[in-house]
Amino acid sequence: MTKMPISLTLNEHATTLEVEPYWTLQRLLRDEIDLTGTKEGCRTGNCGVCTVIVDGAAVKSCLMLAPQIDGTNVVTIEGLARDNGLDPLQRAFVEYGAIQCGYCSPGFIMAAKAFLDENRHPTRDDIASALEGNLCRCTGYVKIFEAVEAAAQAGGA
Ligand code: FES
Ligand code: FES
Repeated sequence: MTKMPISLTLNEHATTLEVEPYWTLQRLLRDEIDLTGTKEGCRTGNCGVCTVIVDGAAVKSCLMLAPQIDGTNVVTIEGLARDNGLDPLQRAFVEYGAIQCGYCSPGFIMAAKAFLDENRHPTRDDIASALEGNLCRCTGYVKIFEAVEAAAQAGGA
């Protein structure tokens, strides 16, 4: 099949890529440009490990086709840390023990980032609702919710 050119902002860098029309965004990120912080799980939209942010919204990259990101602003987990260190949400996940095996963590952090960017003072129930599309087999969720709550209270996401 013929590849098509797309242009986007990826982790704050203007980027042009050639993509096959049938590639998912997940495949593009992981297999074509080595942004493997975005994980692969169910590939059916159920686990959330592949979550990235597209134009400010949390998106499951296994459900989006690569051509759909033409002209968008995409942020992956690799785009969160800055020169001066981890994003506050990443720090909170470490400090609150919200990471065990860590496989779900990038997806949770990206979903939480998009949520906190729009909701500066969420309740615990708000946080749980916002993250209900993300699954974790290790933590029991409480520490994840505590970490997101702490990041919100610190005013950082
Ligand atoms: S791999 Fe995308 S939701 Fe599970
Ligand atoms: S920390 Fe292992 S799946 Fe969430």
